[in-house]
Amino acid sequence: MFYSTDENRHGLAHDPFKAIVSPRPIGWIGSRGSDGSINLAPYSFFNAVSDRPKLVMFSSSGRKHSFRNASETGEFTCNFVSRHLIDKMNASSAAVPYGVDEFVLAGLTPSRGELVAAPYVAEAFAVLECKVTEIIEPKSLSGEPSENVMVFGQVVGIHIDEAILREGRIDMALAQPIARLGYMDYSDSSEVFELFRPKV
Ligand SMILES: Cc1cc2nc3c(=O)[nH]c(=O)nc-3n(C[C@H](O)[C@H](O)[C@H](O)COP(=O)(O)O)c2cc1C
Repeated sequence: MFYSTDENRHGLAHDPFKAIVSPRPIGWIGSRGSDGSINLAPYSFFNAVSDRPKLVMFSSSGRKHSFRNASETGEFTCNFVSRHLIDKMNASSAAVPYGVDEFVLAGLTPSRGELVAAPYVAEAFAVLECKVTEIIEPKSLSGEPSENVMVFGQVVGIHIDEAILREGRIDMALAQPIARLGYMDYSDSSEVFELFRPKV
């Protein structure tokens, strides 16, 4: 099948776009407002965009609280979602009013960053501390700004729980990262294999 997205007539029960662009890592964003309130929410429009410098990005569909806090304070954390945290990650996605602390809502422990004042999830196996580098409103083909806003941040510090390290590497069988698929589907990395790039 083929369909053009201007009419988006795929004829399927649900729009397949997010199932095609999957699996997506989940950026579980911890932030602090200029009023001192703390916030936590998952974003699967999230990824690393560069290694040197280490840059990550999350995209907010509308100006949500994580965007507001990151733009107010210039900081956020990105927490690694492992299998044992999936229900707490989901609980933290509730659409609660500004200022409601999702760490309390989800039963998680907030720790203050080493290099940023934004909170991170003490229970997470790995955490990126980030400082905002850019905020972009991505445009559509027509040049109209969309409802979305992308927050880019440079990773300034990294926490790793040494329990997930084996022989100097993060062991994915121990870290059990969760990815977002389409619809209401998620996956863990239950099968991990190596593939080496061709040598020319
Ligand atoms: C796994 C998962 C991924 C999500 N990804 C996004 C996303 O990429 N962008 C977005 O705007 N909302 C996303 N959401 C919804 C937000 O988490 C939700 O709207 C939340 O209330 C936003 O919180 P905040 O206003 O405190 O930032 C996602 C929810 C879940 C459960």
